[in-house]
Amino acid sequence: MKIIGTGSALPKKIVTNDMLSEFLDTSDAWIYPRTGIKSRHVISDEKLEDMAAEAARKALADAGMEAGDLDMIICSNVVNEYITPSLSCIIQGAIGATCPCLDINCACAGFIYALDIAESHFKAGRVKNVLIVCAEEPTRMTSWKDRSVCVLFGDGAGAAVLTEGDNIKGIKCSAASATDKLYQKHILEPTPYITKEEESIPLQMKGQDVFKFAVKASSGDIRYLLDNLGMKADDIDWYLLHQANMRIINSIRDFLGQPAEKFPTNVENHGNSSSASCPILLDECNRKGMFKPGDKLALSAFGAGFISGAVIIEW
Ligand code: ACO
Repeated sequence: MKIIGTGSALPKKIVTNDMLSEFLDTSDAWIYPRTGIKSRHVISDEKLEDMAAEAARKALADAGMEAGDLDMIICSNVVNEYITPSLSCIIQGAIGATCPCLDINCACAGFIYALDIAESHFKAGRVKNVLIVCAEEPTRMTSWKDRSVCVLFGDGAGAAVLTEGDNIKGIKCSAASATDKLYQKHILEPTPYITKEEESIPLQMKGQDVFKFAVKASSGDIRYLLDNLGMKADDIDWYLLHQANMRIINSIRDFLGQPAEKFPTNVENHGNSSSASCPILLDECNRKGMFKPGDKLALSAFGAGFISGAVIIEW
């Protein structure tokens, strides 16, 4: 398969570090050096499903394709307003598609896992055109009283349209169960048979454990693909990494021994938008005309689970 269109959509509300320090015991002087984040887009009066549909429409327009041409929609999402129906079904209705729809929750690595699922359908000859939409509102998962977590995240949606081709050179999906490091717990409806006390818990994160996992997993996934494809880190033109934290990106870059120019970033203005992070960055770079045909791109993401994944693409 190959990517022939990208799109993204962001909430209009921009929250700077200084704005956070108006109601939290934090500061730009703490946040920026530790994370590389200056501001983030935060959902206010928008709906996530509308942003997801907007990103999808932009990707379809970029691909020159109609919604009716799609054979499958895969949506990566951790949290939205509905437990059911799936976000992919909501997107299908909004854009006027009629194909099968599938939601996945692979946290921040959702775009890579969605590419992997799509590729298996292409290889089985079951699809000709697939839409992936990653739509996330992690700012609705965190406690805005917890300065150690809420400062890290931003919302948004990113999308890509795939068609038949031979441009995905390799995909590596990994997981290493560590469910106490990054999690959120919500309460289900009570029944007459539940006697234990339950409480909902906003997103909890052991930041330093996540940091170490992220560097190890991302470096390992990329290295695995390079070795398998007989490539060297120098052969990659662009590294598009999950935009969680600038220090994580720099550590992976050091491990790969590659120059900063190969690592476009937007974490400064977006924060961590979970699985939407990679496709939003891909779309921004695509629309700037940064990629030439034949360029080799390595995308890599990591997150709760822990789950990680990487893909090498020829543009
Ligand atoms: N402002 C001011 N002080 C803060 C803030 C804040 N926003 N947050 C924490 N602190 C304080 C802590 O309370 C602590 O104070 P203390 O020493 O008095 O107890 C001090 O700063 C140090 O806290 P640490 O948590 O040890 O800070 P650390 O240097 O580890 O940095 C950070 C924290 C930035 C979260 C770091 O661990 C990190 O980047 N981890 C990776 C997190 C990440 O990227 N997660 C997302 C990836 S997974 C996904 O995408 C879902």
